[in-house]
Amino acid sequence: MAKLNKIGIIGLGHVGSTLAYTLCLSGLARELVLIDTDEKKVHAESLELADTLQNLAHNVVLTENAYAALLDAELLVFCAGDIRVLETASDRLAELRVTSKVVRDVAPKIVSSGFDGLVISITNPCDVICQYLAEMIGFDKKKVIGSGTLIDSNRLKNRTGDTRSLVIGEHGESQLALNASEAAATAARLTGWEIYSAKQHTAFGIASSVTRIIRVLASGSDELLPVSTYDEKAGCYYAVPSSISLANGTETRVVPLLSDEEVANLRRSINTIKANYKTI
Ligand SMILES: NC(=O)c1ccc[n+]([C@@H]2O[C@H](COP(=O)([O-])OP(=O)(O)OC[C@H]3O[C@@H](n4cnc5c(N)ncnc54)[C@H](O)[C@@H]3O)[C@@H](O)[C@H]2O)c1
Repeated sequence: MAKLNKIGIIGLGHVGSTLAYTLCLSGLARELVLIDTDEKKVHAESLELADTLQNLAHNVVLTENAYAALLDAELLVFCAGDIRVLETASDRLAELRVTSKVVRDVAPKIVSSGFDGLVISITNPCDVICQYLAEMIGFDKKKVIGSGTLIDSNRLKNRTGDTRSLVIGEHGESQLALNASEAAATAARLTGWEIYSAKQHTAFGIASSVTRIIRVLASGSDELLPVSTYDEKAGCYYAVPSSISLANGTETRVVPLLSDEEVANLRRSINTIKANYKTI
């Protein structure tokens, strides 16, 4: 199986720790660099992962809280934030106010580590934070992608039972469901909130989606995935089926054939993302 040598994960909360666990099980990386401001948490997760690895036929080297170790990493996953913001969120931009600050804290550390690989950004609002992170670390926008609407597309397929169902646009309220009834689209869009309201976070769906993205990167496959990639013309990130590679990041973006109404809805989604970006 194709493997990456080293993957960094910044943010070892629900999402980052589940991703680290999933990556250990999958054996897709020889080394994981685990970074979080909560050093005790990183150490605890590292101990748990080491216990896990005793059950597996492969090893994964675990490095704790060392930005310097990112120098030769091929991939960095950004999932730092504070999900507790949603407990008292009074508006949809509440998380952005917190996560944009986290980007400002983390970006100079990424830059001074000398890391120059590919970045996958998960932190919400996904498309906006992806652009902000790319700008703050000064990377070519092709080398920074967002997890986008792969998770939303999975949720939609679970509602429709149709493998052609696809979500594009914002990973958020303005997303656009294709090949789905309105009822299925609404139910899928609300799935994250349904999960969140019971367990106060979501993790398995997103961690396995990002593992799938990493598997595509490791294998060199040109499979199209609905990840958030930069549209030069629109001047923002949003999800459309895209092919990606470890060397170049975004290779191609394929906007599906859309009806006039869908074109207008995608435009609305892009405008939502751009308006949110302006609030930073
Ligand atoms: N894109 C998606 O589909 C998707 C899905 C689920 C969650 N998310 C988002 O992912 C983010 C993380 O979610 P979570 O449930 O893991 O949150 P969480 O609060 O459990 O974990 C966030 C972690 O980030 C760490 N952190 C905060 N500031 C940091 C900094 N400056 N440097 C390093 N680490 C820092 C915290 O200590 C914490 O461990 C949130 O923004 C959430 O909305 C996105």
